[in-house]
Amino acid sequence: MLIFLVTAFIFMRSILVPPDFGKYGHYRASAIDEIISQEIKYAGHTVCYDCHDDIVDLKKTGYHKNVACEVCHGPAALHTDDPGELKLQAPRERGYCPLCHEYISSRPTGFPQIVSASHNPMKPCISCHEPHDPKPPQTPKECDACHAEISRTKSLSHHVYVDCIECHQTPNEHKIKPREYLPSKPTTREFCGNCHSKDSTTPEEIPKIDINSHGERYMCWQCHYPHLPEAQ
Ligand code: HEC
Ligand code: HEC
Ligand code: HEC
Ligand code: HEC
Ligand code: HEC
Ligand code: HEC
Ligand code: HEC
Ligand code: HEC
Repeated sequence: MLIFLVTAFIFMRSILVPPDFGKYGHYRASAIDEIISQEIKYAGHTVCYDCHDDIVDLKKTGYHKNVACEVCHGPAALHTDDPGELKLQAPRERGYCPLCHEYISSRPTGFPQIVSASHNPMKPCISCHEPHDPKPPQTPKECDACHAEISRTKSLSHHVYVDCIECHQTPNEHKIKPREYLPSKPTTREFCGNCHSKDSTTPEEIPKIDINSHGERYMCWQCHYPHLPEAQ
């Protein structure tokens, strides 16, 4: 019985283990030639500089500096040998970028992520972000870029000359990440009283009230919409 098992083992081994195994240690010697003979598909990112120096220069200081060209454009060896032979594709469609940027809770914090269903849907990502030097597009300077309705309402109101930032201290980051950095909102009756209390020293044209008795139990904006205040 034992002899049978040993013979069977030796027989099976001679079938299963390739003949050149062991020539260079614990490896199959012919693997090296097989791998050498494979067609090279990737060119590496340094050769691109020969013909696309403008893009290489643009990319190397941007956020995508560590994302290699061929990650997005695919294997390019044929293209670098003869650009006419293989025209590379560019991933222009919206579905591509979320492969890396879609919000997934296990991605490292701080890695820029978006929820593509709500992040400016419908438009291709590259209509706002240059793929070789991506950054958030020009930050809007004016509040009305995003708060158009409030701004239009106010421009027809008695508060037309009261600037938004008189009433809302607005951190600059609000214009870049508006939901993470919110501006302040008035919280006290005294705030409106600074201009409207009969004790205040603001110009005469500004109508005055007695802050102690006028609508005393409520916040001013429960009766007067601050962006279109009216005194009926
Ligand atoms: C020998 C010069 C040469 C090298 C090297 C080269 N390219 Fe090109 N590439 C070209 C030329 C020429 C075109 C324009 C071909 C055309 O419009 O038909 C082109 C076009 C492209 C395009 C355009 C595709 C489109 O949709 O318009 C991409 C993407 C591209 N190359 C990427 C690369 C990448 C990535 C590398 C490095 C791995 C690279 N190229 C290396 C010459 C080169
Ligand atoms: C994050 C993905 C990404 C990476 C990385 C990337 N590209 Fe592109 N590339 C694109 C997209 C998307 C377009 C299409 C842009 C458009 O149509 O406005 C494009 C367009 C191009 C074009 C043709 C249009 C043009 O702007 O002239 C060339 C050439 C090109 N890329 C070369 C490169 C090279 C070289 C590198 C590496 C230095 C590189 N790309 C890295 C995504 C990428
Ligand atoms: C292979 C993964 C990968 C792909 C694909 C990719 N990116 Fe990126 N992206 C990165 C990395 C890595 C960074 C840099 C993150 C950092 O610096 O922490 C980055 C940064 C960015 C930023 C900067 C965000 C900020 O903090 O201001 C934007 C915008 C961006 N990518 C847009 C795109 C767009 C648009 C595409 C599609 C054309 C794309 N990315 C495709 C990996 C990728
Ligand atoms: C209409 C223009 C527009 C389009 C289209 C757009 N973005 Fe943005 N993107 C912005 C603006 C503005 C910001 C900065 C404010 C914000 O975070 O919303 C931004 C921010 C980002 C950031 C940085 C987020 C962070 O927390 O640092 C990433 C990553 C990004 N976009 C990727 C994408 C991807 C991927 C797509 C396509 C699926 C895309 N964007 C489509 C305008 C756009
Ligand atoms: C890039 C677009 C953008 C710009 C520019 C912008 N905001 Fe906003 N703002 C938002 C968004 C988005 C919200 C959140 C709305 C929500 O959560 O419903 C918001 C919320 C607010 C709020 C409400 C805060 C709260 O606690 O409810 C105030 C006040 C405000 N913005 C004032 C301003 C003022 C003043 C400016 C100009 C100095 C300004 N915003 C510029 C997009 C913007
Ligand atoms: C006179 C002071 C005042 C001015 C000027 C003002 N706001 Fe307000 N705003 C307020 C008050 C008070 C609230 C809180 C209302 C509430 O809680 O019901 C508010 C609330 C908001 C909100 C939260 C959403 C809403 O409609 O209640 C936004 C957004 C906002 N303001 C944006 C703006 C923008 C943009 C401007 C400039 C175009 C502006 N505000 C000018 C006093 C002001
Ligand atoms: C309970 C509702 C209510 C509250 C709360 C309220 N008001 Fe009024 N306010 C009115 C009414 C109604 C009028 C018009 C009749 C009047 O003049 O008393 C008015 C009128 C005004 C006028 C115009 C006065 C004039 O002479 O033309 C100003 C200014 C004013 N309010 C500011 C404020 C301020 C500031 C606060 C908070 C400290 C406030 N209101 C709180 C209801 C209210
Ligand atoms: C920086 C000064 C300033 C602040 C702060 C301010 N207002 Fe005014 N308010 C004005 C001016 C200026 C007018 C318009 C006077 C005119 O019509 O000539 C006005 C007018 C009004 C009117 C009268 C409207 C009418 O029909 O005559 C009301 C009501 C009012 N404001 C309420 C408020 C409330 C509520 C707040 C607090 C959220 C507030 N104001 C904060 C300057 C201010």
